[in-house]
Amino acid sequence: MTVAEKIALRAEPIKPKIGAIVRNSKEELLSGALSEEIRRLIEDRGVLVFPEIHFTDEEQVAFTKTLGTFLPEMEGQEVYDITLDKKINPRSEYLKGSLFWHIDGTMNKRPPGYAILSCKVPATWGGDTEFCNTYAAYEDLPEEEKARIDSLRVMHAAWNTLFYYEPEPSQEKLEEMMALGDVELPLVWKHRSGRKSLVLGNTAHHIVGLDWRESARLLNKLREWATSEPYRYTHHWKVGDAVMWDNSGTMHRARPYDPECGRLLHRTKTAGEEPIQ
Ligand code: SIN
Repeated sequence: MTVAEKIALRAEPIKPKIGAIVRNSKEELLSGALSEEIRRLIEDRGVLVFPEIHFTDEEQVAFTKTLGTFLPEMEGQEVYDITLDKKINPRSEYLKGSLFWHIDGTMNKRPPGYAILSCKVPATWGGDTEFCNTYAAYEDLPEEEKARIDSLRVMHAAWNTLFYYEPEPSQEKLEEMMALGDVELPLVWKHRSGRKSLVLGNTAHHIVGLDWRESARLLNKLREWATSEPYRYTHHWKVGDAVMWDNSGTMHRARPYDPECGRLLHRTKTAGEEPIQ
């Protein structure tokens, strides 16, 4: 037996339905020996916290690569600066949508699989990141509600997120966002594992074929349910913390913070392994 094979995953749940804290050392995580166990754990827990692990960018990239196929950001960088500060990230405008519950990449054929955020500079106030477990939220729905929603389909669009943070956009901006297109997705994701999760968030515009009031009611009710206390974990950042989430079984959002305060998180991602179907 090699040294790597002897490493055991040391993790403890945070709440019954979401989250775990992983206590392994950076060296153990970077060895790759725990990758399979981490992948199994996160499918159940949705979010894993590595308190004050202090990954450098190179280490964060290396750790991400042990978990799946590395997915560079749109601009090709390996590590993306999450900040509302335009001086650090000139494209920070688009991050305003991240203040509302969402799944990353709903507009893509395969949304990203896992994502990892590392805290470089915490916010002076606010700036927590919240996660909710959309597997557990689905599984706890009453059976008649599951039967009602199982085959419903929802129109998603990036432009819908614009109205969350800029309710009266210029026509030019709306057209620009609309040019990104829209996509019809199932309300319930039937994963290849056999499990199901809810597909909601700020890109969800309306349920196909439903009266518009009924559609708004149902999307809002499910969002309220999925993000309610039992399924939600709020992470209060300390410098050096890393948090990883399973983008296919969770939603997340940042809580408001002073855009000028220098809050800075570094994000890496793996490619998604299945389309939303
Ligand atoms: C994100 O949505 O990836 C960013 C979350 C955050 O800023 O806390």
